[in-house]
Amino acid sequence: MAAVAETLRSGWLTTGPRSAQLERRSAEYLEADHVIAVASGTAAMHLALLALGVGPGDEVVTTPVTWPATANVIVHAGATPVFADVRDGDLNIDPQRVQELVGERTKAILPVHLAGQPCDLDPLWELGIPVVEDAAHAFESRYRGRKLGGLSDATCFSLYATKNVAAGEGGLISTNRADVAEAVRDLRLMRRGDGSLYDIAVPGYKANLSDVLAAIALVQLDKLERHAEIRARQFALYDAAVAGLAGIAPLPRDPRDTHALHLYIVRVDAERAGATRDEYQRALAEEGIATSIHFLPVHTLSWYRGRFAADCPVAERAGSEVLSLPLSPAHSDDDIADACDALAGVHARFIR
Ligand SMILES: Cc1ncc(COP(=O)(O)O)c(C=O)c1O
Repeated sequence: MAAVAETLRSGWLTTGPRSAQLERRSAEYLEADHVIAVASGTAAMHLALLALGVGPGDEVVTTPVTWPATANVIVHAGATPVFADVRDGDLNIDPQRVQELVGERTKAILPVHLAGQPCDLDPLWELGIPVVEDAAHAFESRYRGRKLGGLSDATCFSLYATKNVAAGEGGLISTNRADVAEAVRDLRLMRRGDGSLYDIAVPGYKANLSDVLAAIALVQLDKLERHAEIRARQFALYDAAVAGLAGIAPLPRDPRDTHALHLYIVRVDAERAGATRDEYQRALAEEGIATSIHFLPVHTLSWYRGRFAADCPVAERAGSEVLSLPLSPAHSDDDIADACDALAGVHARFIR
Protein backbone atom coordinates (compact mmCIF):
# COMPACT_ATOMS: atom_id res chain seq x y z
CA MET A 1 0.00 0.00 0.00
CA ALA A 2 2.85 2.34 0.82
CA ALA A 3 4.50 1.60 -2.53
CA VAL A 4 1.27 2.41 -4.37
CA ALA A 5 0.77 5.65 -2.42
CA GLU A 6 4.36 6.65 -3.14
CA THR A 7 3.82 6.00 -6.84
CA LEU A 8 0.63 8.08 -6.90
CA ARG A 9 2.43 10.92 -5.12
CA SER A 10 5.28 10.75 -7.63
CA GLY A 11 2.79 11.82 -10.30
CA TRP A 12 4.00 9.09 -12.67
CA LEU A 13 1.02 6.79 -13.25
CA THR A 14 1.76 5.17 -16.59
CA THR A 15 4.86 3.21 -17.65
CA GLY A 16 7.88 4.91 -16.13
CA PRO A 17 10.73 4.45 -13.67
CA ARG A 18 9.05 1.69 -11.64
CA SER A 19 8.30 -0.41 -14.72
CA ALA A 20 11.91 0.03 -15.79
CA GLN A 21 13.08 -1.03 -12.35
CA LEU A 22 10.81 -4.08 -12.45
CA GLU A 23 12.33 -5.03 -15.81
CA ARG A 24 15.88 -4.69 -14.46
CA ARG A 25 15.21 -6.64 -11.27
CA SER A 26 13.29 -9.36 -13.09
CA ALA A 27 16.07 -9.74 -15.66
CA GLU A 28 18.51 -10.30 -12.84
CA TYR A 29 16.24 -12.81 -11.09
CA LEU A 30 15.32 -14.65 -14.29
CA GLU A 31 18.96 -14.67 -15.47
CA ALA A 32 17.86 -13.25 -18.82
CA ASP A 33 19.35 -10.46 -20.95
CA HIS A 34 16.06 -8.65 -21.60
CA VAL A 35 12.77 -8.37 -19.75
CA ILE A 36 9.88 -6.27 -21.04
CA ALA A 37 6.93 -5.46 -18.76
CA VAL A 38 3.48 -5.64 -20.32
CA ALA A 39 -0.19 -5.44 -19.35
CA SER A 40 -0.84 -9.19 -18.85
CA GLY A 41 0.49 -12.68 -19.37
CA THR A 42 -1.86 -12.88 -22.34
CA ALA A 43 -0.30 -9.76 -23.89
CA ALA A 44 3.16 -11.20 -23.20
CA MET A 45 2.40 -14.34 -25.24
CA HIS A 46 0.60 -12.42 -27.98
CA LEU A 47 3.47 -9.98 -28.50
CA ALA A 48 6.07 -12.76 -28.30
CA LEU A 49 4.33 -14.66 -31.12
CA LEU A 50 4.05 -11.49 -33.23
CA ALA A 51 7.70 -10.67 -32.56
CA LEU A 52 8.62 -14.08 -33.98
CA GLY A 53 6.59 -13.31 -37.11
CA VAL A 54 3.69 -15.69 -36.39
CA GLY A 55 0.72 -14.76 -38.58
CA PRO A 56 -2.04 -16.02 -40.87
CA GLY A 57 -1.28 -19.36 -42.49
CA ASP A 58 1.03 -20.42 -39.68
CA GLU A 59 0.46 -23.14 -37.10
CA VAL A 60 1.55 -23.04 -33.46
CA VAL A 61 1.68 -26.29 -31.49
CA THR A 62 0.44 -25.96 -27.92
CA THR A 63 -1.06 -27.91 -25.03
CA PRO A 64 -4.78 -28.25 -24.33
CA VAL A 65 -4.13 -28.36 -20.56
CA THR A 66 -3.88 -24.64 -19.97
CA TRP A 67 -5.84 -21.47 -19.40
CA PRO A 68 -7.49 -20.69 -22.77
CA ALA A 69 -5.41 -17.51 -23.14
CA THR A 70 -2.53 -19.69 -24.36
CA ALA A 71 -4.57 -20.79 -27.38
CA ASN A 72 -6.41 -17.48 -27.76
CA VAL A 73 -3.19 -15.58 -28.49
CA ILE A 74 -2.44 -17.96 -31.37
CA VAL A 75 -5.86 -17.09 -32.77
CA HIS A 76 -5.26 -13.36 -32.10
CA ALA A 77 -2.07 -13.60 -34.17
CA GLY A 78 -4.15 -15.02 -37.05
CA ALA A 79 -2.51 -18.44 -36.81
CA THR A 80 -3.96 -21.90 -36.13
CA PRO A 81 -3.53 -23.65 -32.77
CA VAL A 82 -2.54 -27.31 -33.05
CA PHE A 83 -3.18 -29.20 -29.81
CA ALA A 84 -0.66 -31.83 -28.80
CA ASP A 85 -1.72 -34.19 -26.02
CA VAL A 86 -0.02 -34.14 -22.63
CA ARG A 87 1.92 -36.76 -20.69
CA ASP A 88 -0.05 -38.79 -18.21
CA GLY A 89 2.20 -37.79 -15.29
CA ASP A 90 2.75 -34.06 -14.91
CA LEU A 91 0.15 -33.20 -17.60
CA ASN A 92 2.71 -31.12 -19.50
CA ILE A 93 2.91 -31.24 -23.29
CA ASP A 94 4.19 -34.58 -24.64
CA PRO A 95 7.27 -33.90 -26.81
CA GLN A 96 6.62 -37.09 -28.76
CA ARG A 97 3.19 -35.81 -29.77
CA VAL A 98 4.66 -32.41 -30.65
CA GLN A 99 7.19 -34.07 -32.94
CA GLU A 100 4.38 -35.90 -34.74
CA LEU A 101 2.41 -32.69 -35.24
CA VAL A 102 5.08 -30.25 -36.44
CA GLY A 103 5.18 -29.63 -40.17
CA GLU A 104 6.08 -27.05 -42.77
CA ARG A 105 3.54 -24.56 -41.42
CA THR A 106 4.68 -24.82 -37.78
CA LYS A 107 6.04 -21.41 -36.86
CA ALA A 108 6.37 -21.86 -33.10
CA ILE A 109 5.78 -24.19 -30.15
CA LEU A 110 3.98 -22.79 -27.10
CA PRO A 111 4.29 -25.15 -24.11
CA VAL A 112 3.07 -24.49 -20.56
CA HIS A 113 4.80 -25.29 -17.27
CA LEU A 114 1.69 -26.53 -15.50
CA ALA A 115 1.44 -25.69 -11.80
CA GLY A 116 5.13 -24.69 -11.81
CA GLN A 117 6.60 -27.99 -13.03
CA PRO A 118 8.80 -27.23 -16.06
CA CYS A 119 7.84 -29.18 -19.16
CA ASP A 120 10.44 -31.27 -21.00
CA LEU A 121 12.17 -28.54 -23.01
CA ASP A 122 15.17 -30.37 -24.54
CA PRO A 123 13.16 -32.45 -27.04
CA LEU A 124 11.21 -29.32 -28.03
CA TRP A 125 14.39 -27.30 -28.68
CA GLU A 126 15.76 -30.22 -30.72
CA LEU A 127 12.98 -29.71 -33.26
CA GLY A 128 14.65 -26.44 -34.31
CA ILE A 129 11.41 -24.42 -34.19
CA PRO A 130 11.10 -21.25 -32.05
CA VAL A 131 9.77 -21.98 -28.56
CA VAL A 132 7.70 -19.47 -26.58
CA GLU A 133 7.19 -20.69 -23.02
CA ASP A 134 3.98 -19.97 -21.14
CA ALA A 135 5.59 -19.62 -17.73
CA ALA A 136 2.56 -18.01 -16.06
CA HIS A 137 2.88 -20.59 -13.26
CA ALA A 138 6.64 -20.81 -13.24
CA PHE A 139 8.33 -17.61 -12.05
CA GLU A 140 10.64 -19.46 -9.64
CA SER A 141 11.09 -22.62 -11.72
CA ARG A 142 14.41 -24.04 -12.84
CA TYR A 143 14.69 -26.57 -15.64
CA ARG A 144 17.50 -29.05 -14.92
CA GLY A 145 19.19 -26.42 -12.79
CA ARG A 146 18.81 -23.55 -15.28
CA LYS A 147 16.50 -20.65 -14.51
CA LEU A 148 13.52 -20.35 -16.82
CA GLY A 149 13.63 -16.96 -18.52
CA GLY A 150 16.50 -16.92 -20.99
CA LEU A 151 16.36 -20.51 -22.22
CA SER A 152 13.91 -20.37 -25.14
CA ASP A 153 13.22 -17.72 -27.78
CA ALA A 154 10.82 -16.01 -25.37
CA THR A 155 9.42 -16.82 -21.93
CA CYS A 156 6.16 -15.26 -20.77
CA PHE A 157 5.11 -14.63 -17.18
CA SER A 158 1.87 -13.39 -15.65
CA LEU A 159 1.54 -10.97 -12.73
CA TYR A 160 -2.17 -11.72 -12.34
CA ALA A 161 -3.69 -11.55 -8.85
CA THR A 162 -3.28 -15.27 -8.12
CA LYS A 163 0.25 -15.70 -9.46
CA ASN A 164 3.43 -16.11 -7.42
CA VAL A 165 4.38 -12.50 -8.20
CA ALA A 166 0.98 -10.85 -7.97
CA ALA A 167 0.52 -7.26 -9.08
CA GLY A 168 -3.20 -7.70 -9.78
CA GLU A 169 -2.60 -7.55 -13.51
CA GLY A 170 0.58 -7.55 -15.57
CA GLY A 171 3.00 -9.68 -17.52
CA LEU A 172 6.66 -10.03 -18.41
CA ILE A 173 8.45 -11.26 -21.51
CA SER A 174 12.03 -12.41 -21.00
CA THR A 175 14.50 -13.37 -23.68
CA ASN A 176 18.18 -13.46 -24.53
CA ARG A 177 17.36 -12.56 -28.14
CA ALA A 178 17.95 -8.85 -28.74
CA ASP A 179 15.86 -8.93 -31.94
CA VAL A 180 12.84 -10.40 -30.11
CA ALA A 181 13.19 -7.85 -27.29
CA GLU A 182 13.37 -4.99 -29.79
CA ALA A 183 10.31 -6.25 -31.71
CA VAL A 184 8.32 -6.63 -28.48
CA ARG A 185 9.26 -3.09 -27.39
CA ASP A 186 8.02 -1.76 -30.74
CA LEU A 187 4.73 -3.64 -30.41
CA ARG A 188 4.06 -3.02 -26.72
CA LEU A 189 3.25 0.66 -27.11
CA MET A 190 3.40 3.14 -29.95
CA ARG A 191 6.75 4.79 -29.58
CA ARG A 192 6.58 8.41 -30.45
CA GLY A 193 10.27 9.02 -30.83
CA ASP A 194 11.62 12.34 -29.60
CA GLY A 195 9.98 15.70 -29.70
CA SER A 196 6.50 16.77 -30.66
CA LEU A 197 6.86 16.01 -34.35
CA TYR A 198 6.29 12.29 -33.92
CA ASP A 199 6.34 9.44 -36.35
CA ILE A 200 5.04 5.87 -36.07
CA ALA A 201 7.34 3.20 -37.45
CA VAL A 202 5.29 0.22 -36.20
CA PRO A 203 1.52 0.18 -35.46
CA GLY A 204 1.98 -0.81 -31.83
CA TYR A 205 -0.57 -2.03 -29.30
CA LYS A 206 -1.41 -0.53 -25.90
CA ALA A 207 -0.03 -3.36 -23.83
CA ASN A 208 2.28 -1.48 -21.48
CA LEU A 209 2.31 -1.86 -17.68
CA SER A 210 1.38 1.04 -15.41
CA ASP A 211 3.89 2.11 -12.76
CA VAL A 212 1.22 1.64 -10.07
CA LEU A 213 1.11 -2.09 -10.87
CA ALA A 214 4.89 -2.26 -11.31
CA ALA A 215 5.25 -0.83 -7.79
CA ILE A 216 3.15 -3.71 -6.41
CA ALA A 217 5.16 -6.27 -8.39
CA LEU A 218 8.43 -4.84 -7.04
CA VAL A 219 7.24 -5.34 -3.45
CA GLN A 220 6.16 -8.87 -4.35
CA LEU A 221 9.66 -9.60 -5.64
CA ASP A 222 10.98 -8.76 -2.17
CA LYS A 223 8.60 -11.33 -0.69
CA LEU A 224 9.45 -14.18 -3.08
CA GLU A 225 11.65 -16.10 -0.68
CA ARG A 226 9.28 -15.82 2.27
CA HIS A 227 6.32 -16.81 0.10
CA ALA A 228 8.24 -19.77 -1.33
CA GLU A 229 8.83 -21.06 2.21
CA ILE A 230 5.11 -20.82 2.96
CA ARG A 231 4.21 -22.57 -0.30
CA ALA A 232 6.72 -25.35 0.45
CA ARG A 233 5.16 -25.85 3.88
CA GLN A 234 1.67 -25.99 2.38
CA PHE A 235 2.83 -28.52 -0.25
CA ALA A 236 4.33 -30.70 2.51
CA LEU A 237 1.10 -30.57 4.52
CA TYR A 238 -0.92 -31.64 1.48
CA ASP A 239 1.60 -34.35 0.51
CA ALA A 240 1.28 -35.87 3.98
CA ALA A 241 -2.51 -35.58 3.95
CA VAL A 242 -3.16 -37.16 0.55
CA ALA A 243 -0.56 -39.94 0.98
CA GLY A 244 -3.14 -42.02 2.85
CA LEU A 245 -6.13 -41.28 0.60
CA ALA A 246 -6.77 -44.01 -1.97
CA GLY A 247 -7.54 -42.64 -5.42
CA ILE A 248 -6.30 -39.10 -4.69
CA ALA A 249 -2.81 -38.36 -5.96
CA PRO A 250 -0.88 -35.12 -6.52
CA LEU A 251 0.68 -34.45 -9.92
CA PRO A 252 4.25 -35.81 -9.82
CA ARG A 253 7.12 -33.31 -9.46
CA ASP A 254 10.44 -33.99 -11.19
CA PRO A 255 13.30 -33.88 -8.65
CA ARG A 256 15.69 -32.76 -11.40
CA ASP A 257 13.81 -29.46 -11.64
CA THR A 258 12.85 -26.66 -9.28
CA HIS A 259 9.07 -26.49 -9.04
CA ALA A 260 7.53 -23.03 -8.51
CA LEU A 261 4.91 -24.57 -6.17
CA HIS A 262 2.24 -22.42 -7.79
CA LEU A 263 -0.69 -24.87 -7.65
CA TYR A 264 -1.31 -28.04 -5.67
CA ILE A 265 -3.23 -30.19 -8.14
CA VAL A 266 -4.52 -33.65 -7.29
CA ARG A 267 -6.19 -36.15 -9.57
CA VAL A 268 -9.31 -37.87 -8.35
CA ASP A 269 -9.62 -41.42 -9.66
CA ALA A 270 -13.38 -41.93 -9.27
CA GLU A 271 -13.12 -45.73 -9.11
CA ARG A 272 -10.71 -45.74 -6.19
CA ALA A 273 -11.77 -42.51 -4.48
CA GLY A 274 -15.44 -43.52 -4.40
CA ALA A 275 -16.69 -40.41 -6.20
CA THR A 276 -15.94 -38.18 -9.16
CA ARG A 277 -13.91 -34.97 -9.09
CA ASP A 278 -17.11 -32.96 -9.44
CA GLU A 279 -18.65 -34.77 -6.45
CA TYR A 280 -15.50 -34.10 -4.42
CA GLN A 281 -15.57 -30.44 -5.42
CA ARG A 282 -19.20 -30.05 -4.35
CA ALA A 283 -18.67 -31.91 -1.07
CA LEU A 284 -15.63 -29.77 -0.24
CA ALA A 285 -17.58 -26.60 -1.04
CA GLU A 286 -20.22 -27.73 1.45
CA GLU A 287 -17.42 -27.96 4.03
CA GLY A 288 -16.43 -24.38 3.20
CA ILE A 289 -13.36 -25.36 1.15
CA ALA A 290 -13.13 -23.65 -2.25
CA THR A 291 -11.22 -25.52 -4.93
CA SER A 292 -10.63 -24.88 -8.62
CA ILE A 293 -9.90 -26.74 -11.83
CA HIS A 294 -6.67 -26.36 -13.81
CA PHE A 295 -7.68 -27.06 -16.49
CA LEU A 296 -10.59 -28.10 -18.70
CA PRO A 297 -9.00 -29.06 -22.06
CA VAL A 298 -9.11 -25.98 -24.30
CA HIS A 299 -10.10 -27.91 -27.43
CA THR A 300 -13.32 -29.05 -25.70
CA LEU A 301 -14.53 -25.50 -24.92
CA SER A 302 -17.33 -24.09 -27.07
CA TRP A 303 -15.41 -21.85 -29.44
CA TYR A 304 -12.60 -24.35 -30.00
CA ARG A 305 -14.74 -27.50 -30.20
CA GLY A 306 -15.34 -28.43 -33.79
CA ARG A 307 -13.03 -25.71 -35.14
CA PHE A 308 -9.78 -27.55 -34.51
CA ALA A 309 -9.31 -31.31 -34.65
CA ALA A 310 -7.48 -32.61 -31.59
CA ASP A 311 -6.61 -36.13 -30.56
CA CYS A 312 -5.96 -35.62 -26.86
CA PRO A 313 -7.39 -38.47 -24.75
CA VAL A 314 -4.94 -37.96 -21.89
CA ALA A 315 -5.88 -34.29 -21.53
CA GLU A 316 -9.59 -35.13 -21.72
CA ARG A 317 -9.39 -37.71 -18.96
CA ALA A 318 -7.28 -35.38 -16.81
CA GLY A 319 -9.82 -32.59 -17.38
CA SER A 320 -12.41 -34.59 -15.48
CA GLU A 321 -10.02 -35.60 -12.66
CA VAL A 322 -7.92 -32.56 -11.70
CA LEU A 323 -8.71 -30.53 -8.63
CA SER A 324 -6.60 -27.68 -7.22
CA LEU A 325 -6.61 -27.40 -3.44
CA PRO A 326 -6.37 -24.00 -1.71
CA LEU A 327 -2.79 -22.71 -1.74
CA SER A 328 -1.55 -19.21 -1.09
CA PRO A 329 0.88 -17.34 1.15
CA ALA A 330 -2.25 -15.57 2.41
CA HIS A 331 -3.43 -18.84 3.99
CA SER A 332 -2.20 -19.92 7.41
CA ASP A 333 -1.03 -23.45 8.16
CA ASP A 334 -4.30 -23.86 10.08
CA ASP A 335 -6.27 -23.02 6.93
CA ILE A 336 -4.41 -25.74 5.05
CA ALA A 337 -4.93 -28.18 7.94
CA ASP A 338 -8.67 -27.41 7.71
CA ALA A 339 -8.63 -28.19 3.99
CA CYS A 340 -6.74 -31.45 4.67
CA ASP A 341 -9.24 -32.46 7.37
CA ALA A 342 -12.20 -31.68 5.12
CA LEU A 343 -10.68 -33.70 2.28
CA ALA A 344 -10.02 -36.67 4.59
CA GLY A 345 -13.58 -36.46 5.94
CA VAL A 346 -15.16 -36.29 2.51
CA HIS A 347 -12.96 -39.17 1.33
CA ALA A 348 -13.97 -41.33 4.29
CA ARG A 349 -17.63 -40.71 3.48
CA PHE A 350 -17.23 -41.49 -0.23
CA ILE A 351 -15.29 -44.74 0.15
CA ARG A 352 -17.53 -46.07 2.91
C1 LIG B 1 -1.21 -21.10 -17.83
C2 LIG B 1 -1.64 -19.67 -17.98
N1 LIG B 1 -1.30 -19.01 -19.09
C3 LIG B 1 -1.66 -17.73 -19.27
C4 LIG B 1 -2.39 -17.03 -18.34
C5 LIG B 1 -2.79 -15.62 -18.65
O1 LIG B 1 -2.21 -14.66 -17.83
P1 LIG B 1 -2.95 -13.26 -17.62
O2 LIG B 1 -4.17 -13.49 -16.83
O3 LIG B 1 -1.93 -12.42 -16.90
O4 LIG B 1 -3.25 -12.71 -18.98
C6 LIG B 1 -2.76 -17.69 -17.14
C7 LIG B 1 -3.51 -17.07 -16.05
O5 LIG B 1 -4.13 -16.14 -15.93
C8 LIG B 1 -2.38 -19.04 -16.97
O6 LIG B 1 -2.74 -19.71 -15.86
